Amino acid sequence: MSNITPHSFSVSKKERNRLNKHNSFLIWFTGLSGSGKSTIADALEKKLHKKKIHTYILDGDNIRKGINKNLGFSPDDRTENIRRIAEISNLFIDAGMVVLSAFVSPYKKDRNNIKKIVGKSNFVEIFVNTSLEECERRDVKGLYKKARKGEISNFTGISAPYEAPDTPDVEITEKMSIGEAVEKIMISINDKLY
Ligand code: ADX
Repeated sequence: MSNITPHSFSVSKKERNRLNKHNSFLIWFTGLSGSGKSTIADALEKKLHKKKIHTYILDGDNIRKGINKNLGFSPDDRTENIRRIAEISNLFIDAGMVVLSAFVSPYKKDRNNIKKIVGKSNFVEIFVNTSLEECERRDVKGLYKKARKGEISNFTGISAPYEAPDTPDVEITEKMSIGEAVEKIMISINDKLY
């Protein structure tokens, strides 16, 4: 970008973190639609909030209905969806928040780009590894049924790919309870928090 000179503001991220008494970083949930990403993020946020951690959740409701409402589900649109969310997450990290982002984010290259945008040390990847069979059995939003009938195109797991992470920081399996999932994530982020 040319002719853009960043202004150097007086209050830094470090000072915001000191005021909040904890560090700020991004907890990224990836997995199929209906895998439980938002449910686990919600339970984790409740737990963090109780511990006086400043948090914010980004998910389809506040992103795809607002800033990203001009984007669909083609590969290019998903890439742009994730890029914008990573940039927004980065601002929230700078603001001193622990950000919980829950998006299908099916492409490895897009998840790698998040890491580049927020910095490797600010990125915790949670793979909510619920099988397609189980997500389809739950079909909370009735979307799998529609996708099978061909009423939704490019549907992740049915007519569009999901590239599972090879080395996520935390893997949640479908056998785990919400409480167990939250505990596993809490253990993995404890050193990052303080
Ligand atoms: S992402 O691929 O760009 O990361 P995102 O997480 O924002 O996807 O949105 C996924 C949600 O949108 C799904 O949980 C589902 O409710 C809905 N959705 C609608 N159409 C599709 C589709 N073609 N593929 C996947 N999810 C879809």
